[in-house]
Amino acid sequence: MEIKVAVTKEKGALSIEKAQLSGPKATEVLVKIIASGVCHTDAAGIHGFIPWVKYPMVFGHEGVGIVEEVGSAVDSLKVGDRVGLTFPSCGVCSYCLNGAPYACTQVNDLFFSGAYKDGTYRISQKGTNLGSFFGQGAFANYVVADARYAVKIEGVTDEKIKYLCSLGCGAQTGAGAVLNRCKPTPASTLVVFGAGGVGMAAVMAAKIAGCIKIIAVDIVPERLELAKEFGATDTINAKEVSDVVAKIKEITDGGAHYSIEVSGVPDLSLQAIQCLRRLGTAVVSSVTGPAEISLAIEPMIMNPGITFTGLVEGGSNPQVFIPQLVEYYKAGQFPIDRLVEFYQFEDIGKAFEDSHTGKAIKPILIFD
Ligand SMILES: NC(=O)c1ccc[n+]([C@@H]2O[C@H](COP(=O)([O-])OP(=O)(O)OC[C@H]3O[C@@H](n4cnc5c(N)ncnc54)[C@H](O)[C@@H]3O)[C@@H](O)[C@H]2O)c1
Ligand SMILES: [Zn+2]
Ligand SMILES: [Zn+2]
Repeated sequence: MEIKVAVTKEKGALSIEKAQLSGPKATEVLVKIIASGVCHTDAAGIHGFIPWVKYPMVFGHEGVGIVEEVGSAVDSLKVGDRVGLTFPSCGVCSYCLNGAPYACTQVNDLFFSGAYKDGTYRISQKGTNLGSFFGQGAFANYVVADARYAVKIEGVTDEKIKYLCSLGCGAQTGAGAVLNRCKPTPASTLVVFGAGGVGMAAVMAAKIAGCIKIIAVDIVPERLELAKEFGATDTINAKEVSDVVAKIKEITDGGAHYSIEVSGVPDLSLQAIQCLRRLGTAVVSSVTGPAEISLAIEPMIMNPGITFTGLVEGGSNPQVFIPQLVEYYKAGQFPIDRLVEFYQFEDIGKAFEDSHTGKAIKPILIFD
C-alpha cells in the first residue's frame, strides 16, 4: 500500500515523501498511526550519532495507533485494537526468554539497522528499501510491526491515547529506571539528572515508589518548577549551584540512595556516582555514542559498594510494564500528558527544532 513517510536519506535530512509498505508477515500487524512521539534518540540517529544506523531510514519509534490487519500467527491482537509500539527484541535469545528483552543480544541490529528480524524490510521506494527505525519507522501514517512489541492499550480514548506515545520509549525509560531497576525501598532518596521527558517520568515514578526525597537537577528553571509539580521535593539549578554533588549530599544527609542520569551529558555520570551514599545505585540511560569518564574504582566504587549500571528502555518488559504505566496514568499518578506539545506530521521539522531548543519537552506528531 502507498503510505506517507518522513525519510532520512542522508545525515541531517528529513523529507516527507510517498513510499510503499508491504503487508504484515505471520507474526506482524499493520497499524494505522494516530500519533508518533519525537525522541532525542531519533535526533541522534538523524544526525549520525548512532554508529549502527544506516540510511535511508524512516525514524520514529513511539507510534500509537489502530491495528488494521494481523498476521496469521498473531493471537495477542485483533483488528481494531489500540496499540502502543515499543522497542523490538528477538524473543529467542536467553535474555528475551528470561524476561529481559531490553538486554536482547540483537538490540543494535533490531533498533538501528532498519531491517526486521528476518533481515528484510517493509518500506520501499521505487525498488529501494527504506529502513524502519526500531522495527516500526513511526514517522509514517502506517507501519508494520511485530506483535511482540505492539502493546495493547485498553480503556483510553483515541483523544487521550495521543498523549501516551512516550510510553513506548521515553516515559518507559525514566519510569523503568526507578521502578524496574532501583526499586526504591521505603523512605529512600533519589536524584534525577536532567528534567526532560525521560527525567520527568523518573520523578513521577519516584513519587509513586514513595521516595522521601526526590531531587531534580537541571539547568532550565521552568523545568525544575514543573518537576516540583510532579513530585520533586528539591531542585538544583546546575548553572547556579557551584557544587551540585555537595548540595545533594546536604539535602540527603550524606548522599542519595539512587541516582538516574538522563540529561544526555556524559560527564554527569560521574556526579551520579559521587552523589551517592554507601551501597547506592547510579543508573545511566542517556549516553549516545562513545563517552568516557574517569573514575577510581577504589575509593569511589568498591569500598562504598556502589552499583553503577547502564540501562536501556528502563529495564522494561513492555508487555507487562506499559499496561502498568497506563493504569498509573488513568489513576492520575503518571501525568505524562502534561509534557506534550502536538504538531501536525507535516510540521515534523518544527517539532524537532522545538525539541532541540527545549521549547517542547515531548513533541508528538499527529496524523489525520
Ligand atoms: N537508554 C535509553 O533507553 C533511552 C531512551 C530514551 C531516551 N534516551 C536518552 O535520554 C536522554 C534524555 O532524553 P529526554 O527526552 O529526556 O531529553 P531532554 O532534552 O528532554 O532532557 C534532558 C534534560 O537535561 C537537561 N540538562 C542539560 N544539561 C544539563 C546539565 N549540565 N545538568 C543538568 N541538566 C542538564 C536539559 O535542560 C533537559 O531538561 C537523551 O540523551 C535520550 O537520547 C535514552
Ligand atoms: Zn533477544
Ligand atoms: Zn526513544
